[in-house]
Amino acid sequence: MKHYLNLDAIPNLQTAINEVIALKKEAYADEHLGQHKTLGMLFFNPSLRTRLSTQKAAQHLGLKTMVMNFSNEAWALEFEDGTKMSGLRSEHIKEAAAVVSQYCDLIAIRAFASLSDQQKDEEEQVLNNFVRYASIPVINMESATAHPLQALADAVTIKEQGLTKRPKIVLTWAPHPKALPHAVGNSFTKMAQNLDADFVIAQPKGYELNPAITGNTTLMYDQHEAFKGADFVYAKNWCSYNDYGKILKFDEEWMVTAEKMKLTNEAKFMHCLPIRRNIVADDHVLDHHNSLVIEQANNRTYAAQWVLKQLLKNG
Ligand code: CP
Repeated sequence: MKHYLNLDAIPNLQTAINEVIALKKEAYADEHLGQHKTLGMLFFNPSLRTRLSTQKAAQHLGLKTMVMNFSNEAWALEFEDGTKMSGLRSEHIKEAAAVVSQYCDLIAIRAFASLSDQQKDEEEQVLNNFVRYASIPVINMESATAHPLQALADAVTIKEQGLTKRPKIVLTWAPHPKALPHAVGNSFTKMAQNLDADFVIAQPKGYELNPAITGNTTLMYDQHEAFKGADFVYAKNWCSYNDYGKILKFDEEWMVTAEKMKLTNEAKFMHCLPIRRNIVADDHVLDHHNSLVIEQANNRTYAAQWVLKQLLKNG
């Protein structure tokens, strides 16, 4: 593994899941691997779980961390080539990425979608320019189109439930007052397509994810129908992909409720967090013993540790 930009970096998902689960039992087994090395963590957007779990993972490996909120602490970055930099952007990505590479051995970056410029979002302008101009491995801590650390943690969380039969997994769109990116939905979809599972996505018309990602996955427009017999319900909001960045309708009918969960096979409830209670899912669902949201957050540490370990082992 050279970088961890998306799930394609994982050679074998099942092997990775098993190795993450093994890491949990011996979190400090590789604590010398990162000795005298530094992980730089650059945040263009807020975070609770990703920031703390990745730092915890680094600690387990003996890595030092440097954390910077790039959006308000660093010079505003220019990404275009050949620009006369007479405006508000004071530093070019060429220098910024090369300079961070002098102080760090690995860089992790969080840079969400703008939701205004689809082309730049799909090109992963921030992440890919760091890859281009840095001389060290880059880790995606949620980019415009992908959140692969979350998806690996989610895969581990599902595996840990120890189901004996092929599970039915439903990724359901849920309401939210703000337009949210597609990254979590995209990466969960790509991950679930690689599990031995009956995987369906439920969303209102107009909220279909990028068809290049959903591929042959079954899309359903009736949430009640989709929930029938489900073993896992993963809720997430995202804005329209076709009408890029737009909230088409704030449809409260799509909130995950205790009543709807009765349609399932006593499904486990999953969400990446943060979650808006009684908007995305009701209190009963979140406070129920079938909610896995805290286990998911815990597994973020070990998913990140597995990724850091692969990159450190590669030197
Ligand atoms: N799930 C997740 O990435 O959480 P944060 O945005 O708090 O990091």
